[in-house]
Amino acid sequence: MHPDLTISDIHSLKKDQAFEILAQIARVEKKTFPANEAFQFSEELWRKKPNTRVLYVTRAAASARPTVLAYAVYVRQRGVALLNKVCVAEVYRRQGVGRQLMTYIRARLQREGCQQIHLWVDKARLSARSLYAHNGFEEREQIPDYYAPGRTGIKMVLDL
Ligand SMILES: CC(C)(COP(=O)(O)OP(=O)(O)OC[C@H]1O[C@@H](n2cnc3c(N)ncnc32)[C@H](O)[C@@H]1OP(=O)(O)O)[C@@H](O)C(=O)NCCC(=O)NCCS
Repeated sequence: MHPDLTISDIHSLKKDQAFEILAQIARVEKKTFPANEAFQFSEELWRKKPNTRVLYVTRAAASARPTVLAYAVYVRQRGVALLNKVCVAEVYRRQGVGRQLMTYIRARLQREGCQQIHLWVDKARLSARSLYAHNGFEEREQIPDYYAPGRTGIKMVLDL
């Protein structure tokens, strides 16, 4: 665990700060994912979507312009949360940040009374599959060509 990391929710920020964080996330997202898989981190997320949570990881030390190391997005629908995205910026990978973010998400959803977390992952994303498996997610379904021709999607579920 990294005591020097902070995990926050964009909904607890004021507008200008939230938009700055969303802009940073959008830049990492664009670098990391092909266009058809990129999530749209628009300002609407902060304004209008209370069921959609955007979490982000920064260094704990207060800074006027914090750097986003990692982020995650999930949507709550009653007892189920759909985890749309987990991403650690490339230079911060393999240092336990993803693991810490997953632990946080799991504990938070459990505390909020959520019963299951669902997600879809590309079969070829071995790092992500391994991270999810380490956190107790089980593979429930595979759909060929889910992301694009030749790219299988795997549905994983965690019972809380
Ligand atoms: C998947 C991802 C979030 C992991 O984040 P991370 O901070 O590097 O992960 P951690 O350092 O916390 O590692 C946790 C576990 O993830 C797995 N993992 C992470 N990187 C891995 C790699 N390169 N190869 C294999 N397993 C890996 C391992 O199980 C690891 O546990 P271990 O250290 O005991 O082996 C990160 O690689 C990433 O953002 N990838 C690109 C985006 C992506 O694929 N997102 C998921 C789909 S939306």
